[in-house]
Amino acid sequence: MAATEPIVEMENISIEFPGVKALQDVNFRLFPGEVHTLMGENGAGKSTLIKALTGVYKIDSGSIKVAGGPRRFTGTADAQSAGISTVYQEVNLCDNLTVGENVMLGHEVHGRMGINWRKTNLAAHDALVRLGLGGLDPKAPLSSISLALQQLVAISRAMVTNSKVLILDEPTSSLDANEVEGLFAVIRRLRDEGVAILFVSHFLDQVYAISDRLTVLRNGEFVGEHMTQDLSRGQLISMMIGKDVDTLNSLGSNRGRAVHAVGAPYYSAKNLGRQGSIEPVDIDVHAGEVVGLAGLLGSGRTELGRLIYGADRPDSGDVTIDGVATEVHTPVAALARKIAFSTENRRDEGIIGDLTVRENLILAVQARRGWARPLSRREQNEICAKYLVELNVRPADPERAIRNLSGGNQQKVLLGRWLATNPELLILDEPTRGIDVGAKAEIQETIAALAEDGMSVVFISSELEEVVRLSERIIVLKDHRKIGEITNGPLVTAETIVDIIASEGSSE
Ligand SMILES: Nc1ncnc2c1ncn2[C@@H]1O[C@H](COP(=O)(O)OP(=O)(O)OP(=O)(O)O)[C@@H](O)[C@H]1O
Ligand SMILES: [Mg+2]
Repeated sequence: MAATEPIVEMENISIEFPGVKALQDVNFRLFPGEVHTLMGENGAGKSTLIKALTGVYKIDSGSIKVAGGPRRFTGTADAQSAGISTVYQEVNLCDNLTVGENVMLGHEVHGRMGINWRKTNLAAHDALVRLGLGGLDPKAPLSSISLALQQLVAISRAMVTNSKVLILDEPTSSLDANEVEGLFAVIRRLRDEGVAILFVSHFLDQVYAISDRLTVLRNGEFVGEHMTQDLSRGQLISMMIGKDVDTLNSLGSNRGRAVHAVGAPYYSAKNLGRQGSIEPVDIDVHAGEVVGLAGLLGSGRTELGRLIYGADRPDSGDVTIDGVATEVHTPVAALARKIAFSTENRRDEGIIGDLTVRENLILAVQARRGWARPLSRREQNEICAKYLVELNVRPADPERAIRNLSGGNQQKVLLGRWLATNPELLILDEPTRGIDVGAKAEIQETIAALAEDGMSVVFISSELEEVVRLSERIIVLKDHRKIGEITNGPLVTAETIVDIIASEGSSE
């Protein structure tokens, strides 16, 4: 039962960065015992509103009240001491400590001889039990548990201080379906205890599964606040993009296009494999064809992409490119053979935060050409002009530091970096992760158009609908093995793939 008095009330919040009005007169209220989702396209201002609340960014105008009284925080730690905790997607824990030490960090139980570890671990256990995580051993090293569980440890840690407000900005973007359920179970539990939860996600299914209330932002402006049950998906998307949804639905599908999987493939690998990574796989990709890699998280999708690209060295396999036997054992060799790999890991392998959008965008082209021959300013500008427009990067300003772009816009720049190399074979690992519905359709459209122009594409996504929408053929992976390959057609759905994964091995 949601309470009637908000725990957080933000009114007429405005924040301006040089050249960008990130927030303009935005209102937001958060009630105890509810899950309230912030919705909006990439760059709408969701993360900025969170940072305004926690004092990471100073607001130019507006008022913030917490539990009825005016408050201005000086940063995350200050907000936390007032009961407002933020858990970021990239969890901020200490790898070399145990689960329990992480939960209790800064709140260890002290005895006369310093920290009493027995009591500290007991307290950690209690904190974990509160979230239904009693099965987690406080003494286990943090590095021994999955990223999804680490995130739950981060939440336990936030709750040790008895937070009244828990903020989760895109916590689910690298979780599989089971892990999302685990997280949601924890969120529901805390909500039922009266904690107010502020949630951000681009996955509509998840938003509808977990939210009680929604606030929609567009271009830094407040569009509306609604109870989730009163708002259809169509209405929600219309509010986010400011236009109706029929146009969106017509974009992006690759199905019903001409068939390309005939004749000699452009790229062909037989028995491509690597011990401990993926069992030998046959994969062909024709010019103009999108081949989807489908499977659950951990099924080996990314590993196969990395083998094709030579990011990991294959220890078996015969590869031909355009009919010529070849070896792709390093990314340098891949680039030389016009193979590009856009990684799923935006933070670690992707963007370089201190560089500008321009510098990030030209990186792969420059690497292929060799650093001894720098691209001229004119060449750089041409690349920027083309891809900032084509991928609708906002703001389309090449000189901005990329870390100041919203998450989704960083992802678009990353994709542009690889497109700029004019690859013949493009491997895309989760290219639409963290991207809003409108931009997602645009990116799908771009991929379809690239294939239409003759590019060979390997498309990896954890969203099966998207794989089905874009791929001509689909390779299904499970437990680091190829378990099936299907040709797309009108009768193929996400369900078809799920059935293959579910039934595989069950008759053995
Ligand atoms: N530190 C900063 N300096 C300059 N501009 C910024 C900064 N932080 C955010 N912005 C700009 O403010 C706007 C809102 O960004 P914000 O990160 O809040 O978007 P978002 O809704 O979280 O998007 P996404 O879904 O892509 O994460 C964007 O135009 C972004 O480029
Ligand atoms: Mg964001």
